[in-house]
Amino acid sequence: MKKIILFADPGIDDSFAIMYALLNPEIDLLAIVSSYGNVTKQQATDNIAYLLELAGRSDIPIIGGANSPLSGEIPTYYPEIHGPEGLGPIKPPEGFSGELTNFSELYNIIKENDDITIVDVGRNTSLANLYLLGENIAEEISAFYIMGGAFLVPGNVTASAEANFYGDPVASNLLVSKLDNLYIVPLNVSNKAIITMEHINTILQMSNNPLINIIDDIMQFYMAAYEKLIPGLNGAPLHDVLTLSLMINPAMGRVVRKDVDVLLTDEGRGTSIADFRERAEPADKNIFIYLTFDYYWFVNDFIRVMSSPLNQ
Ligand code: BDR
Ligand code: CA
Repeated sequence: MKKIILFADPGIDDSFAIMYALLNPEIDLLAIVSSYGNVTKQQATDNIAYLLELAGRSDIPIIGGANSPLSGEIPTYYPEIHGPEGLGPIKPPEGFSGELTNFSELYNIIKENDDITIVDVGRNTSLANLYLLGENIAEEISAFYIMGGAFLVPGNVTASAEANFYGDPVASNLLVSKLDNLYIVPLNVSNKAIITMEHINTILQMSNNPLINIIDDIMQFYMAAYEKLIPGLNGAPLHDVLTLSLMINPAMGRVVRKDVDVLLTDEGRGTSIADFRERAEPADKNIFIYLTFDYYWFVNDFIRVMSSPLNQ
């Protein structure tokens, strides 16, 4: 069983990642850190709280993360992809509001547990703050998995930048310079983690619980958003779920070890750079970038986990 702390900004694929973590018997979800990103931090918090309530897991603390990037800029949100409230057409009930636990509780959780993996599928501001405010955090965590970046492939916010790295490039660059045992899941692989309505219908036929009952409407919305971006895709990529799935099934993908930089300003903002030349110097750091994965393994894992019973 893997103990994980999840940093997220739900958001549709973040919400699927939270459901995947809650339903996966191999994951012990210690806490979720809520931050701005796809939606505001308040909205992200309400969405996390709603998913935890549907799953009967309101015992999992929601930690208050960042409201905005390290630069102090006002964030850009993405209602056209994730819906005005982040869960497509689904809204937490009127008056429903998530309650936050103070950020400092993360240090207690880390002290009290061995062998924690941190998974960050949102903007990297909160994780950068965990590093900056803590002592020896990089040594106390067994591994870090982050969804972000695009290596030698197009970005999804600008021609070269992916959304999580673009949102707070200062934080992302700090992570790639300071963390050890860092696994990066970039668009190179996550763009291919396509889930279709056939997959969703299979899950709905195999399972019936309040958490899973909302996935049909959420996925319809997400697919319609992607249909506008990439006509004919016939599905939509669950970037954040692939990150968790690779963490649990490391042999499902292939990594390369590379030092990484994230560009900070101007046209290059948020662009992830690594040296892929034959004559590149060997990497100094333990950063592993996923460049390929077994799609059929991923789909089978997704369907198996999502159709698992709640509260096992
Ligand atoms: C990433 O950006 C967000 O919009 C998604 O939730 C995912 O984490 C993809 O670029
Ligand atoms: Ca995300």
